[in-house]
Amino acid sequence: MITPVLLCGGSGTRLWPLSRKSYPKQFSKLLGDLSLFQGSAQRLSGANYAAPVILTNSDFRFIVTEQLSEVGIDPGAVLIEPEGRNTAPAILAAALWIAKEDPDGLMLVAPSDHVVPDAEAFEAAVNAGVAAAKAGQLVTFGIKPDRPETGYGYLELSEATDEAPVALKQFIEKPDAKSAAEMLASGRFLWNAGIFLFSVKTLIEAFKSHAKDLLDPVDKAIDTAKCDLGFLRIDPNHWAKCEDISIDYAVMEKADNLTVVPFGGEWTDLGGWDAVWRQSGPNDLGVVTSEHATAIDCEDTLLRSEDKRIEVVGIGLKNIITVAMPDAVLVADTSRAQDVKKAVKALKKKK
Ligand code: GDD
Ligand code: MG
Repeated sequence: MITPVLLCGGSGTRLWPLSRKSYPKQFSKLLGDLSLFQGSAQRLSGANYAAPVILTNSDFRFIVTEQLSEVGIDPGAVLIEPEGRNTAPAILAAALWIAKEDPDGLMLVAPSDHVVPDAEAFEAAVNAGVAAAKAGQLVTFGIKPDRPETGYGYLELSEATDEAPVALKQFIEKPDAKSAAEMLASGRFLWNAGIFLFSVKTLIEAFKSHAKDLLDPVDKAIDTAKCDLGFLRIDPNHWAKCEDISIDYAVMEKADNLTVVPFGGEWTDLGGWDAVWRQSGPNDLGVVTSEHATAIDCEDTLLRSEDKRIEVVGIGLKNIITVAMPDAVLVADTSRAQDVKKAVKALKKKK
């Protein structure tokens, strides 16, 4: 059995004003009837999987349990981080937690804000990685890149392959624009999907080798976690001693026991409004409108109203994103979608 580990601690500021600190994007029903979190939990349920371990913060704990119960999934454990210290401490905490009951078990780490519509193809990719994970490899899933994206990790294959698991030469997290363009052109690289399959034992060994300083504080923070209404509150004093670092920098860039399973199915990190626009099925003119939004003579434009009292109308727009909430409206050039994060920072300062 594989234990899913779902990360849902982020606040998703690039999808402001829909995604808020108190109700971030992974819990919003951005694309359909299910939230991204519910979609991820559902994808990682069934005969192959144990009950999921969830890592989140105190503010989201009831959203997590409510949304899981809506899709009929019982969580194995909901670990509450006193503060976000990025993915390395969170994933190590999950590994140490799972190891208490199942020291030889496998864990599948997944973000809760990705869209992977073909659950069957994804399941096949996971199954293809199991033998390597059991044999002591850190398994990643690779996506064929189609642009020189600098926000992702890049995986250099040791040999060309379309499907089979293959050893990785190196893992490069968030390259600069020039290196990203070179890697894309070389054809030897895949993007890191941000989904990992590890044996708990291998991962803990990897932390011992590459990020030793995290082991002691995370171990103590888990050992002294307090149960509160069924949630496990990680100890804040020990947690505060953990470096704020992602698994990609802390372990993946340094390890040499890496294997990638190429994933040919659709995969989207809904990182910004441009991705939502692309994912929502634009019409022939590239236009996406929600209910209560109307586009007249527009091209390559997303118009969304998140409130039935607000009608949004766009006339003659090109490359524009508009998202209206009862208390805030975003109007941005599509090419600047990633800068929404900066706007949120600026707004915070104003308060
Ligand atoms: N519980 C918890 N606690 N979750 C967290 C924390 C934390 O402190 N920090 C981040 N997460 C969650 C985010 O909400 C997201 O679901 C996931 O962990 C990954 O974090 P991101 O901050 O979104 O990482 P990224 O997108 O910049 O990069 C990662 O994903 C890319 C693919 O989407 C890397 O793994 C890249 O290599 C990869 O290409
Ligand atoms: Mg991300």
